[in-house]
Amino acid sequence: MARIYAGLSTSHVPAIGAALDNGKSHEPYWRPLFQGYEFARQWILDNPPDVVILVYNDHATAFSLEIIPTFALGCAEQFAPADEGWGPRPVPVVKGDSRFAAHIAQSVILDEFDLTIVNRMDVDHGLTVPLSLVFGAPEAWPCRVIPLAVNVVQYPAPTGNRCFNLGRAIRRAVETYPQDLRVMVWGTGGMSHQLQGPRAGLINQPWDNRFLDKIGPDPQSLVQIGHLEYLREAGSEGIELVMWLIMRGALDEKVRTVRRFYHVPASNTAVGHLILENL
Ligand code: DHB
Ligand code: FE
Repeated sequence: MARIYAGLSTSHVPAIGAALDNGKSHEPYWRPLFQGYEFARQWILDNPPDVVILVYNDHATAFSLEIIPTFALGCAEQFAPADEGWGPRPVPVVKGDSRFAAHIAQSVILDEFDLTIVNRMDVDHGLTVPLSLVFGAPEAWPCRVIPLAVNVVQYPAPTGNRCFNLGRAIRRAVETYPQDLRVMVWGTGGMSHQLQGPRAGLINQPWDNRFLDKIGPDPQSLVQIGHLEYLREAGSEGIELVMWLIMRGALDEKVRTVRRFYHVPASNTAVGHLILENL
């Protein structure tokens, strides 16, 4: 049987990818950020996944404002790094798992979460920056990746509660897949940041740290946070944090936090990162 053994969350700031791709990760501005991921780089070697279900948001790259799926599951055999205006990042093509993704779509849709099935999709920094942070710069990514793109760009975004429950449905889907696979679920985006308007640059460290405190032991205290609180407290892009709740919903009720890292700022964003293991 396939089994979820751990979850990982991380911000996905595009400037992190640019720093890596341009050889700047040892510069004073970036070094503390990349040092914060050294634990994850070793942990993932010791606890390698066969498949990562990678929850991220597309930033109007693969989906324009013409089509905006709330939850879109990547069912293709592979996903190319997207050109976001400066050419595609020089990172490997992302290999998917069509059969497993089709099973997840079948299970989750019959569980009444109406995913959009996507058979062709380029993946932007929301997906490739987390892979780079955790796996470095390999010739090929060391595992298969099933992208799950969540709309947090155009309102209405899904609620945190809906995301948490989708995570639970994903867990039921994984647990009914007959192949022996070690599966991780990653939730990306956040933490507090606002990229435009009079409050651009907003970062709310106490609010972020409360989110980091609660998501492992007490996710129920986070699922009711409404869109207005995300906007007010975590800035206009803080809503990306609902994607962490999909990751958390896919894990067991009780988890162990094996890694917690928080760093301000990377570009305009408060960077947060957790590894949670099922007990
Ligand atoms: C930044 C952060 C993001 O999450 C994003 O998608 C784009 C930009 C930033 O901090 O610059
Ligand atoms: Fe983003």
